[in-house]
Amino acid sequence: MALFPRCLLRGITFQVKHMNGQRVMPKFIHECARYISNTSVKGGIRERTLIAVKPDGVQRRLVGQIIQRFEMRGFQLVGLKMLQVSEELLLQHYTSLCKKPFYPSLLQYMTSGPVVAMVWEGHNVVRSSRMLVGDTNPAEAPPGTIRGDFSIHISRNVIHASDSVEGAQKEIALWFQSSELIEWECCDHGNLY
Ligand code: PPS
Repeated sequence: MALFPRCLLRGITFQVKHMNGQRVMPKFIHECARYISNTSVKGGIRERTLIAVKPDGVQRRLVGQIIQRFEMRGFQLVGLKMLQVSEELLLQHYTSLCKKPFYPSLLQYMTSGPVVAMVWEGHNVVRSSRMLVGDTNPAEAPPGTIRGDFSIHISRNVIHASDSVEGAQKEIALWFQSSELIEWECCDHGNLY
């Protein structure tokens, strides 16, 4: 099943849909095809991560350059919005940090202006994004990474990236409604995978 080609899957979907000249439960079939497609054919290619350009990144007009880095790498944008983040959302997002001494200033920083939140998709996107973004402390982030190129201090490190696949799933569910995420086919898919 893991090697089942997408075109065959589409063919079966089409044939079953038109059995006896009638359309057969198209929604159900579509859901099955989507499930198989997401879980086997594309394997880890459908991995997703949450990326957020923090208020300093938005204020400094870095959103375009940040998006460009993910696009250049070949990742696919499946969700994007600008929002003024609430303290409630931040408390859930940074729940493990709420006892840290820097938490009040983190809260103040993250609510100081709008954030641009995105969901990116692709093979190993969580790990690759962390590499693109660079170390949490910009002093440790190599040149060429987003933090290494655009930031100096940990308290203004421009961008957030989920740190694990599990964490990404939780964060995406926290920041986005499922209706805000778009599943779409990228026309250069065959050249990337
Ligand atoms: S810790 O203490 O090791 O758990 O923290 P760390 O993993 O290094 O960072 C977790 C997030 O907290 C942010 N952070 C800070 N924000 C503001 N001020 C200070 N001093 C500070 N120190 C850490 C850090 O950027 C991480 O945020 P995200 O959004 O995950 O990058």
